Amino acid sequence: MILSFAFLSPFGMDFMYLRNKISNSLLAIKLHRYYSREKTVMAMIVAEDIHKSYDDLKVLKGVSLRIGKGEIVSVVGASGAGKTTLLHILGTLDRFDRGRIMIDGRDVSRLGDKQLSDFRNQHIGFVFQFHHLLPEFTALENVCIPAFIAGKSRRSGEMKAKELLDLLGLADRLEHKPAELSGGEQQRVAVARALVNDPVVVLADEPSGNLDSQASRELHSLFFSLRDRFSQSFVIVTHNEILADMADRKLTIHDGLIP
Ligand SMILES: Nc1ncnc2c1ncn2[C@@H]1O[C@H](COP(=O)(O)OP(=O)(O)OP(=O)(O)O)[C@@H](O)[C@H]1O
Ligand SMILES: [Mg+2]
Repeated sequence: MILSFAFLSPFGMDFMYLRNKISNSLLAIKLHRYYSREKTVMAMIVAEDIHKSYDDLKVLKGVSLRIGKGEIVSVVGASGAGKTTLLHILGTLDRFDRGRIMIDGRDVSRLGDKQLSDFRNQHIGFVFQFHHLLPEFTALENVCIPAFIAGKSRRSGEMKAKELLDLLGLADRLEHKPAELSGGEQQRVAVARALVNDPVVVLADEPSGNLDSQASRELHSLFFSLRDRFSQSFVIVTHNEILADMADRKLTIHDGLIP
Protein backbone atom coordinates (compact mmCIF):
# COMPACT_ATOMS: atom_id res chain seq x y z
CA MET A 1 0.00 0.00 0.00
CA ILE A 2 2.82 2.40 0.94
CA LEU A 3 4.59 1.43 -2.27
CA SER A 4 1.47 2.16 -4.28
CA PHE A 5 1.17 5.53 -2.62
CA ALA A 6 4.80 6.26 -3.35
CA PHE A 7 4.29 5.20 -6.94
CA LEU A 8 1.06 7.05 -7.47
CA SER A 9 1.74 10.20 -5.50
CA PRO A 10 3.51 12.02 -8.34
CA PHE A 11 0.30 11.71 -10.35
CA GLY A 12 -1.75 13.93 -8.01
CA MET A 13 -5.19 12.81 -9.24
CA ASP A 14 -4.51 9.11 -8.79
CA PHE A 15 -3.28 9.68 -5.27
CA MET A 16 -6.43 11.64 -4.42
CA TYR A 17 -8.56 8.94 -6.03
CA LEU A 18 -6.91 6.22 -4.00
CA ARG A 19 -7.14 8.23 -0.79
CA ASN A 20 -10.85 8.87 -1.37
CA LYS A 21 -11.44 5.24 -2.12
CA ILE A 22 -9.74 4.20 1.12
CA SER A 23 -11.59 6.76 3.21
CA ASN A 24 -14.85 5.73 1.49
CA SER A 25 -14.30 2.12 2.42
CA LEU A 26 -13.48 3.14 6.00
CA LEU A 27 -16.69 5.12 5.98
CA ALA A 28 -18.53 2.07 4.63
CA ILE A 29 -17.13 -0.07 7.46
CA LYS A 30 -18.14 2.57 10.01
CA LEU A 31 -21.64 2.81 8.51
CA HIS A 32 -21.99 -0.95 8.49
CA ARG A 33 -21.01 -1.10 12.17
CA TYR A 34 -23.40 1.72 12.99
CA TYR A 35 -26.35 0.10 11.24
CA SER A 36 -25.61 -3.35 12.69
CA ARG A 37 -25.71 -1.75 16.13
CA GLU A 38 -28.87 0.19 15.25
CA LYS A 39 -30.50 -3.04 14.12
CA THR A 40 -29.83 -4.55 17.54
CA VAL A 41 -31.11 -1.43 19.26
CA MET A 42 -34.14 -1.45 16.97
CA ALA A 43 -35.42 -4.70 18.51
CA MET A 44 -39.10 -4.00 19.06
CA ILE A 45 -39.46 -6.35 22.03
CA VAL A 46 -36.67 -7.23 24.40
CA ALA A 47 -37.39 -9.53 27.33
CA GLU A 48 -34.56 -10.26 29.73
CA ASP A 49 -34.58 -13.00 32.32
CA ILE A 50 -38.34 -13.00 32.93
CA HIS A 51 -39.55 -14.93 35.96
CA LYS A 52 -43.19 -15.55 36.80
CA SER A 53 -44.76 -17.80 39.43
CA TYR A 54 -48.31 -18.45 40.50
CA ASP A 55 -47.87 -19.28 44.19
CA ASP A 56 -45.56 -22.32 44.21
CA LEU A 57 -45.85 -22.92 40.49
CA LYS A 58 -42.84 -21.49 38.67
CA VAL A 59 -44.12 -20.92 35.13
CA LEU A 60 -41.34 -18.78 33.63
CA LYS A 61 -37.85 -19.36 34.99
CA GLY A 62 -35.73 -16.78 33.18
CA VAL A 63 -37.08 -16.30 29.67
CA SER A 64 -35.11 -13.97 27.42
CA LEU A 65 -35.99 -13.06 23.86
CA ARG A 66 -35.54 -10.32 21.33
CA ILE A 67 -37.94 -9.62 18.49
CA GLY A 68 -37.04 -7.29 15.67
CA LYS A 69 -39.15 -4.66 13.97
CA GLY A 70 -41.27 -6.33 11.32
CA GLU A 71 -40.36 -9.83 12.49
CA ILE A 72 -42.94 -12.62 12.80
CA VAL A 73 -42.10 -15.05 15.58
CA SER A 74 -44.15 -18.07 16.59
CA VAL A 75 -44.17 -19.54 20.09
CA VAL A 76 -44.92 -23.21 20.60
CA GLY A 77 -44.83 -25.54 23.61
CA ALA A 78 -46.93 -28.06 25.48
CA SER A 79 -50.23 -27.11 27.08
CA GLY A 80 -49.45 -25.42 30.40
CA ALA A 81 -45.89 -24.55 29.32
CA GLY A 82 -46.52 -20.84 29.90
CA LYS A 83 -47.19 -19.49 26.39
CA THR A 84 -50.23 -17.42 27.33
CA THR A 85 -48.51 -16.27 30.51
CA LEU A 86 -45.55 -15.06 28.45
CA LEU A 87 -47.77 -13.36 25.87
CA HIS A 88 -49.73 -11.56 28.58
CA ILE A 89 -46.49 -10.41 30.18
CA LEU A 90 -45.10 -9.19 26.84
CA GLY A 91 -48.41 -7.43 26.27
CA THR A 92 -48.22 -5.73 29.70
CA LEU A 93 -51.50 -7.39 30.73
CA ASP A 94 -49.74 -9.27 33.53
CA ARG A 95 -46.98 -8.26 35.91
CA PHE A 96 -43.87 -10.42 36.26
CA ASP A 97 -41.74 -11.19 39.31
CA ARG A 98 -38.27 -10.48 37.97
CA GLY A 99 -36.59 -9.34 34.77
CA ARG A 100 -37.02 -6.49 32.31
CA ILE A 101 -39.18 -5.85 29.26
CA MET A 102 -38.53 -3.14 26.71
CA ILE A 103 -41.10 -2.47 24.01
CA ASP A 104 -40.29 0.01 21.28
CA GLY A 105 -37.46 1.28 23.47
CA ARG A 106 -39.61 1.79 26.60
CA ASP A 107 -39.00 -0.07 29.83
CA VAL A 108 -42.60 -1.08 30.54
CA SER A 109 -41.92 -2.20 34.10
CA ARG A 110 -41.36 1.49 34.96
CA LEU A 111 -44.82 2.55 33.81
CA GLY A 112 -47.67 3.04 36.26
CA ASP A 113 -51.12 1.56 35.66
CA LYS A 114 -52.59 4.50 33.75
CA GLN A 115 -49.46 5.01 31.62
CA LEU A 116 -49.39 1.28 31.00
CA SER A 117 -52.95 1.10 29.71
CA ASP A 118 -52.33 4.09 27.42
CA PHE A 119 -49.10 2.52 26.21
CA ARG A 120 -50.88 -0.78 25.55
CA ASN A 121 -53.73 0.92 23.72
CA GLN A 122 -51.35 2.76 21.40
CA HIS A 123 -48.51 0.28 20.89
CA ILE A 124 -49.89 -3.23 21.17
CA GLY A 125 -52.64 -5.07 19.31
CA PHE A 126 -54.08 -8.30 20.69
CA VAL A 127 -55.74 -11.15 18.82
CA PHE A 128 -57.11 -13.94 21.01
CA GLN A 129 -58.40 -17.42 20.26
CA PHE A 130 -61.90 -16.34 21.10
CA HIS A 131 -62.16 -13.02 19.38
CA HIS A 132 -63.92 -11.27 22.31
CA LEU A 133 -65.95 -9.08 19.96
CA LEU A 134 -68.78 -7.24 21.68
CA PRO A 135 -71.99 -8.94 20.51
CA GLU A 136 -74.20 -5.84 20.65
CA PHE A 137 -71.93 -3.82 18.38
CA THR A 138 -71.45 -4.02 14.62
CA ALA A 139 -68.16 -5.05 13.02
CA LEU A 140 -67.36 -1.39 12.33
CA GLU A 141 -68.16 -0.33 15.91
CA ASN A 142 -66.10 -3.16 17.37
CA VAL A 143 -63.06 -2.06 15.35
CA CYS A 144 -63.58 1.60 16.28
CA ILE A 145 -63.67 1.06 20.06
CA PRO A 146 -59.86 1.07 20.70
CA ALA A 147 -59.56 4.15 18.46
CA PHE A 148 -62.17 6.00 20.53
CA ILE A 149 -60.44 4.90 23.75
CA ALA A 150 -57.24 6.41 22.29
CA GLY A 151 -59.11 9.70 21.91
CA LYS A 152 -59.54 9.68 18.12
CA SER A 153 -62.54 11.47 16.68
CA ARG A 154 -65.49 9.45 15.42
CA ARG A 155 -64.65 10.48 11.86
CA SER A 156 -60.97 9.48 11.91
CA GLY A 157 -61.68 6.28 13.91
CA GLU A 158 -64.33 5.19 11.42
CA MET A 159 -62.16 6.08 8.46
CA LYS A 160 -59.30 3.94 9.75
CA ALA A 161 -61.64 1.09 10.72
CA LYS A 162 -63.28 1.06 7.27
CA GLU A 163 -59.89 1.10 5.57
CA LEU A 164 -58.79 -1.95 7.59
CA LEU A 165 -62.05 -3.85 7.20
CA ASP A 166 -61.85 -3.19 3.48
CA LEU A 167 -58.26 -4.44 3.40
CA LEU A 168 -59.35 -7.61 5.22
CA GLY A 169 -62.14 -8.28 2.72
CA LEU A 170 -64.98 -7.21 4.99
CA ALA A 171 -66.13 -4.01 3.27
CA ASP A 172 -69.64 -5.44 2.83
CA ARG A 173 -69.89 -6.64 6.44
CA LEU A 174 -69.47 -3.34 8.28
CA GLU A 175 -72.95 -3.29 9.76
CA HIS A 176 -73.07 -6.98 10.69
CA LYS A 177 -73.00 -7.98 14.33
CA PRO A 178 -70.56 -10.79 15.34
CA ALA A 179 -73.33 -13.43 15.39
CA GLU A 180 -74.06 -12.61 11.75
CA LEU A 181 -70.46 -13.33 10.70
CA SER A 182 -68.58 -16.59 10.07
CA GLY A 183 -65.77 -17.64 12.45
CA GLY A 184 -63.10 -16.54 9.96
CA GLU A 185 -64.86 -13.20 9.42
CA GLN A 186 -65.16 -12.63 13.17
CA GLN A 187 -61.46 -13.31 13.57
CA ARG A 188 -60.63 -10.86 10.76
CA VAL A 189 -62.75 -8.21 12.52
CA ALA A 190 -60.68 -8.94 15.64
CA VAL A 191 -57.49 -8.49 13.59
CA ALA A 192 -58.78 -5.15 12.27
CA ARG A 193 -59.59 -4.12 15.85
CA ALA A 194 -56.05 -5.07 16.91
CA LEU A 195 -54.59 -2.88 14.16
CA VAL A 196 -56.79 0.19 14.38
CA ASN A 197 -54.32 2.25 16.44
CA ASP A 198 -51.36 1.28 14.25
CA PRO A 199 -49.62 -0.81 16.94
CA VAL A 200 -45.94 -1.59 16.50
CA VAL A 201 -46.48 -5.01 18.09
CA VAL A 202 -49.26 -7.54 17.50
CA LEU A 203 -49.63 -10.41 19.98
CA ALA A 204 -51.81 -13.32 18.97
CA ASP A 205 -52.77 -16.22 21.25
CA GLU A 206 -54.02 -19.19 19.24
CA PRO A 207 -55.63 -16.78 16.75
CA SER A 208 -56.66 -19.61 14.47
CA GLY A 209 -57.44 -22.14 17.21
CA ASN A 210 -61.12 -21.87 16.41
CA LEU A 211 -60.88 -21.92 12.64
CA ASP A 212 -60.78 -24.73 10.08
CA SER A 213 -57.46 -25.37 8.36
CA GLN A 214 -58.28 -23.28 5.28
CA ALA A 215 -59.32 -20.25 7.36
CA SER A 216 -56.28 -20.75 9.63
CA ARG A 217 -53.89 -20.63 6.70
CA GLU A 218 -55.64 -17.56 5.34
CA LEU A 219 -55.39 -15.80 8.69
CA HIS A 220 -51.68 -16.56 9.01
CA SER A 221 -51.03 -15.42 5.41
CA LEU A 222 -52.89 -12.27 6.31
CA PHE A 223 -50.40 -11.62 9.13
CA PHE A 224 -47.59 -11.79 6.58
CA SER A 225 -49.22 -9.36 4.17
CA LEU A 226 -49.97 -6.98 7.05
CA ARG A 227 -46.36 -7.16 8.17
CA ASP A 228 -45.16 -6.47 4.62
CA ARG A 229 -47.43 -3.46 4.47
CA PHE A 230 -47.16 -2.00 7.97
CA SER A 231 -43.93 -3.56 9.40
CA GLN A 232 -45.41 -4.57 12.74
CA SER A 233 -43.71 -7.23 14.85
CA PHE A 234 -45.90 -10.29 15.45
CA VAL A 235 -45.68 -12.84 18.24
CA ILE A 236 -48.03 -15.71 17.49
CA VAL A 237 -48.72 -18.53 19.95
CA THR A 238 -50.01 -21.60 18.18
CA HIS A 239 -50.33 -25.35 18.63
CA ASN A 240 -50.29 -25.78 14.88
CA GLU A 241 -46.73 -26.75 13.91
CA ILE A 242 -47.31 -26.07 10.20
CA LEU A 243 -48.44 -22.54 10.92
CA ALA A 244 -45.64 -22.10 13.47
CA ASP A 245 -43.13 -23.05 10.79
CA MET A 246 -44.44 -20.30 8.51
CA ALA A 247 -42.98 -17.69 10.89
CA ASP A 248 -39.58 -16.05 10.41
CA ARG A 249 -38.50 -17.72 13.64
CA LYS A 250 -40.04 -20.35 15.91
CA LEU A 251 -39.44 -20.27 19.67
CA THR A 252 -40.20 -23.26 21.86
CA ILE A 253 -41.03 -22.79 25.50
CA HIS A 254 -40.02 -25.75 27.60
CA ASP A 255 -39.63 -26.15 31.32
CA GLY A 256 -40.12 -22.42 31.88
CA LEU A 257 -37.39 -21.43 29.45
CA ILE A 258 -36.85 -20.62 25.79
CA PRO A 259 -33.50 -22.25 25.01
N1 LIG B 1 -53.94 -16.81 37.03
C1 LIG B 1 -53.37 -17.98 37.30
N2 LIG B 1 -53.32 -18.47 38.54
C2 LIG B 1 -52.72 -19.63 38.82
N3 LIG B 1 -52.15 -20.43 37.90
C3 LIG B 1 -52.17 -20.00 36.62
C4 LIG B 1 -52.79 -18.77 36.24
N4 LIG B 1 -52.65 -18.61 34.91
C5 LIG B 1 -52.00 -19.71 34.47
N5 LIG B 1 -51.71 -20.54 35.49
C6 LIG B 1 -50.97 -21.79 35.38
O1 LIG B 1 -49.71 -21.52 34.76
C7 LIG B 1 -49.34 -22.54 33.84
C8 LIG B 1 -49.10 -21.93 32.48
O2 LIG B 1 -50.34 -21.49 31.95
P1 LIG B 1 -50.49 -20.88 30.51
O3 LIG B 1 -51.90 -20.47 30.36
O4 LIG B 1 -49.46 -19.83 30.31
O5 LIG B 1 -50.14 -22.13 29.58
P2 LIG B 1 -50.18 -22.28 28.00
O6 LIG B 1 -48.81 -22.69 27.57
O7 LIG B 1 -50.75 -21.06 27.40
O8 LIG B 1 -51.16 -23.51 27.83
P3 LIG B 1 -52.25 -23.81 26.67
O9 LIG B 1 -51.46 -24.30 25.49
O10 LIG B 1 -53.07 -24.89 27.27
O11 LIG B 1 -53.01 -22.56 26.41
C9 LIG B 1 -50.47 -23.55 33.86
O12 LIG B 1 -50.08 -24.61 34.70
C10 LIG B 1 -51.63 -22.80 34.46
O13 LIG B 1 -52.50 -23.64 35.17
MG1 LIG C 1 -52.56 -20.65 26.37
